[in-house]
Amino acid sequence: MNSTMTSKDTLIIKGGKALNGTIEVRGAKNAVTKIMVATLLSAEPSIIHNVPDIADVQVVGEMIRLVGGKVEQLSEGVLKITPTDLHQADTLELHKIAGTSRIPILFAGPLLHRLKEAKLPTLGGCEIGPRPIDFHLRSLQTMGATINEDEKAITITADSLHGAKIELTYPSVGATEQVLLTSVLASGVTELRNAAIEPEIIDLICVLQKMGAIIDVGINRVITIVGVEKLQGFEHSVLTDRIEVASWACVAAATNGKIMVKGAQQEPMMTFLNTFRKVGGEFGITSEGIEFWRGRPLTGITLETDVHPGFMTDWQQPFVVLITQAEGLSTIHETVYEDRFAFTETLNTMGAKIQLYQECLGGTHCRFENSNHLHSAVISGPTQLTGSNIVVPDLRAGFSYVVAALVAKGKTSISGMKTVERGYEKFETKLRAIGTEIIST
Ligand code: EPU
Repeated sequence: MNSTMTSKDTLIIKGGKALNGTIEVRGAKNAVTKIMVATLLSAEPSIIHNVPDIADVQVVGEMIRLVGGKVEQLSEGVLKITPTDLHQADTLELHKIAGTSRIPILFAGPLLHRLKEAKLPTLGGCEIGPRPIDFHLRSLQTMGATINEDEKAITITADSLHGAKIELTYPSVGATEQVLLTSVLASGVTELRNAAIEPEIIDLICVLQKMGAIIDVGINRVITIVGVEKLQGFEHSVLTDRIEVASWACVAAATNGKIMVKGAQQEPMMTFLNTFRKVGGEFGITSEGIEFWRGRPLTGITLETDVHPGFMTDWQQPFVVLITQAEGLSTIHETVYEDRFAFTETLNTMGAKIQLYQECLGGTHCRFENSNHLHSAVISGPTQLTGSNIVVPDLRAGFSYVVAALVAKGKTSISGMKTVERGYEKFETKLRAIGTEIIST
């Protein structure tokens, strides 16, 4: 795959001005990477459109190559994957490539169906909580797999896999994808209860249906999969990245500018759009995308993150920065990850007033009640942010630091931008397109 990604790890931004312009957002990182894995369920070639040029796509492409798949870039944003002859990969090599990616565990189902064994590295991911994979492993065992784990690798074996009744204790995105990617070729029927129904999962289900799978998405988070014997290749255009769209919306309102995000889709953004409007953001929806701006002086909000159709945890970080510019008190209760507010300490050093609490603030009680995790935040605003030297801790916090730098008076030097490249395409180009003053290093 050819990549146009930049290699700069430090970005120096001169902030404090309204940003205006048009940018384009392509396929969702959290859909395209899983769709790439789905190609391995068939020996036939598949073609994926609207693929963003981001590090996570490169990583999954390399992992597919390591198990014997051929990955070609046909043109910008178009990938062809031909997984005709698969074989086991060296787990050390997989580990080197996978790095912090959470995707390797999703290779389990396809590799079990094709090779009867999946040797996978232990997992990485952002520093936002322990992020266990117990739901994944339990689901695989329930469908007939045997699991052996040591410090470096997980070896999963199964001569055959069968359908099962599985109930997740929490509607995990990854575990739902695991069950989907494993059950489609398992014998018999799988009933998955308390499944995640994020738009990225529905996009994966659309792909699996194109491949020949039979999947019913029922009411109350019940997904029923009727196993089939064989799947075929597919051609699919990935849904737009709603996390990136929301991030640019926050930039527009936080800097008091106006940004047209081409490719943005209304339906997967509905909850964000409502919340954005409640705090004073405004938007216009056209056939090309969604334009965002500040409709009135920003005001505070009480909000909690949740699984779909709730307010996404990945929208939370840039939204927190937006809210530092809102009049009054805001309360945000993070219910998906226990440690997703650590990034606010740096915002406070830039002038924000954010206090963290262990209690479930804002009305509902979540899994992290009575734990010692600081998973509620109270934000007082508006606050003038000032430039600083900051380091990106994880992907979404990274974008939020960029939003903070764009709002802040003076210069901010942000290091660790390679982490941001994992999930945001042509990041610096887009920043320049909306008028960001970037100081060359
Ligand atoms: N969980 C368990 N056990 C499991 C799996 C999950 O306890 O076996 C818990 C997690 O610890 C977490 C909660 O369940 O508290 C939700 O985790 P989930 O499995 O839904 O998350 P994921 O599949 O690992 C994906 C995205 C995340 C996004 C979440 C929630 C990818 C590659 N990652 O993670 O995206 O925040 O769903 O929507 O799709 C990001 O893009 O920066 C990112 C972190």
